[in-house]
Amino acid sequence: MTAPKKLFIKTYGCQMNVYDSERMLEALAGQGYESTDSAEDADLILLNTCHIREKAAEKVYSELGRYKDLRAAKPDLKIGVAGCVAQAEGEEIMRRQPMVDLVVGPQSYHRLPDLEARARSGQKALDTDFPEDDKFAALKGRGPKAKRGPAAFLTVQEGCDKFCAFCVVPYTRGAEVSRPAAQVIAEAQDLVERGVREITLLGQNVNAYHGAGEGGDWSLARLIRELSKIDGLARIRFTTSHPNDMDDDLIAAHGDCDKLMPYLHLPVQAGSDRILKRMNRKHTAESYIRLIERLRDARPDLHLSGDFIVGFPEETEEDFQATLDLIEEVRYGSAFSFKYSTRPGTPAETRDQVPEDVKSDRLQRLQALLTRQQRALQDAMVGREVDVLFEKPGRMAGQMVGKSEYLHAVHVTADDIAPGDLRRVLVTDSAPNSLAGTLV
Ligand code: SAH
Ligand code: SF4
Ligand code: F3S
Repeated sequence: MTAPKKLFIKTYGCQMNVYDSERMLEALAGQGYESTDSAEDADLILLNTCHIREKAAEKVYSELGRYKDLRAAKPDLKIGVAGCVAQAEGEEIMRRQPMVDLVVGPQSYHRLPDLEARARSGQKALDTDFPEDDKFAALKGRGPKAKRGPAAFLTVQEGCDKFCAFCVVPYTRGAEVSRPAAQVIAEAQDLVERGVREITLLGQNVNAYHGAGEGGDWSLARLIRELSKIDGLARIRFTTSHPNDMDDDLIAAHGDCDKLMPYLHLPVQAGSDRILKRMNRKHTAESYIRLIERLRDARPDLHLSGDFIVGFPEETEEDFQATLDLIEEVRYGSAFSFKYSTRPGTPAETRDQVPEDVKSDRLQRLQALLTRQQRALQDAMVGREVDVLFEKPGRMAGQMVGKSEYLHAVHVTADDIAPGDLRRVLVTDSAPNSLAGTLV
């Protein structure tokens, strides 16, 4: 038997890339690869990249630069670029970095075995197609029942048809596609048999899910209700959602589906209707706030999270103030915020840009407000009881870390907790990014 080849995958970007990296490893397992944590040991290095902002995309070239010496010392080492930068600028990467042997886009990585063989034989292998065949059906699956951690991602929907004026995703990931319900349910069952207790359903627009199922297309709510029948699966989450795809049944599910966790990431991007319109978001600040009210009616303790962009082209101080006002009104439990980054090929690319120093100033003010909110909501947890799904040992001896239903990291020191345990915890302390507590 030949010794296994080693694959080092470095993952950037969103959770969908994390999921894809796992599946790329599976795809290559059939070629005799197993995973390694060190680039130095690798026979194949794959960078699974993100194109969402300029800084993210630039990382690829600096990372590739670091592999020059490795490659010189080990001529058999193959280097590949996958993910959204591969999709957007694969040919340019191969031109600029001759040591790249393989480029594969997010919709064609089920073809990795063939691409790898071509790279091994000394050819340049590039595949950035959007194939008609079902990528997930073509992937062989996870093989022997290896044990998994308590929490897992499961992509149910890919691509986006929304075309927000700032965003590359519709170009890098392609049109919206949903996986058939039966395929998702089978994969969820398999994960649970491997020890998974919490599944986060993923999609660039996950609540636009409309996978083929019994009796016609299923909505995300229908899928969640069906998944919640799986014994042993304790928790379901989903991300990322678009406000316009939040249908009545999905709102209701937050109130009546016990396994659906009371946490929702629902990006709004901005609070000014003028800017929302220029962003092509197709909703207003008011409609977003009404939606949040309906969600909170269904589930009063829902924790909300969002994404914000400051300094979108033509954003005035008044527009920015409207974003701060919206944040004050919603009260977020957590949030991600970014300076607008000009992306090639998107409609906003050629518009009047906001100066960098103005963007930086607005980001600072926005983040100060969000941090205050997040901290206040977290501090208010002290004295309350939460359910914690424990995942792994903490940094201190005897400590275990897990997630509350609201996605707070929670530390508990006790000697009878194992990964995968779901326990009731009294919150005793709130630190900047986590809670501490004791078992009830
Ligand atoms: N599908 C999700 C988000 C995908 S990208 C949604 O519609 O909400 C994740 C986040 O990156 C976005 O919500 C947005 O806040 C941010 N983002 C996307 N393009 C950006 C750009 N050009 N500049 C800065 N932030 C951007
Ligand atoms: Fe990008 Fe908008 Fe689609 Fe989200 S909804 S992925 S921000 S285009
Ligand atoms: Fe980045 Fe692609 Fe995800 S651009 S955020 S890795 S969909």
